Amino acid sequence: MCKLPAMQSSELKRAAARAALDELVVGAVLGVGSGSTVDVFVDQLATLASPPAALVCASERTAARARSQGLRVRELNEVLAGGESIPIYVDGADEIDSQLRMIKGGGAALTREKIVAAASGHFVCIADVSKCVERLGAFPLPIEVVPMARELVARRVRALGGEPRLRDGGLTDNGNEILDVRGLDLSRPEQVEAHIEQWPGVVAAGLFAVHGADTAIIAAPDGVERRKATGARG
Ligand code: 5RP
Repeated sequence: MCKLPAMQSSELKRAAARAALDELVVGAVLGVGSGSTVDVFVDQLATLASPPAALVCASERTAARARSQGLRVRELNEVLAGGESIPIYVDGADEIDSQLRMIKGGGAALTREKIVAAASGHFVCIADVSKCVERLGAFPLPIEVVPMARELVARRVRALGGEPRLRDGGLTDNGNEILDVRGLDLSRPEQVEAHIEQWPGVVAAGLFAVHGADTAIIAAPDGVERRKATGARG
C-alpha cells in the first residue's frame, strides 16, 4: 500500500466519491458506510438536486453527518419491514485487492457495515489508490468482540499466528471492543473470515472476502477507474 500526501489523498477521495454519484438509483433508499471517504460522499449527496429518498447509515457518525446536511436517515429494520429495497451500498475500505476483497473496520464500524452491505443489492467501494494491495494483510485486521470474550478471542488469534491488540478509543456503536490483529496469513481471506466469524464472542471480522465489493471506484492522480468483480471470488 503506497502512502499519499494528505492533500492529494483528500482530492482523490473527493474524486472517487463524485464518481459514485453515477451509481445512484433515483428515488431509492441508499446504504452508506463510514469513514472519511464516506463523509465526503455524504457531503456531495447533500448538494444534489434530487438526493436519495433516505440513507441507511452504518455508523452513528455517518448518520449524524447526513442529518446535519439535511439528508433523511432511516433505520434498516424500518426500511426492510416496509418491504423496501436498498439497491446500492457505498462505502470505503482500508485495503482492497484485485478481486475486490477488502479489509474494513479502521473506523470501528465493520459490523454495521457488513449488515447494511448484506441488506443491499450492490456494493460500491470508493477509495483512493493507496488502498489497493496485491495481498490483504498489511493493515491490521479489526475484529469486533463482545468484551467478555476478548481474551478468549485473543488466545485463538495467537494460535493462528496473529498478534492481537486491543484498540484504544472506547467501544463501538454496538457497545463492543475491537481487537486489531497483525501477522495473520490472509492468503485465503474467505477461509479466514468464515473461520474467525464462527468463534463465540466474535461479532464480525473486518474481512469482506466471502462477499466483497461488486464495483470499486479507485481514484488515482491520473484518473478515476471503475473495476467490476469478476465473480471469481470464494
Ligand atoms: C470504517 C471503515 C472505512 O471504510 C475504512 O476505515 C476507510 O476509511 P477512510 O475512508 O477514512 O479511509 O471500514 O469502519
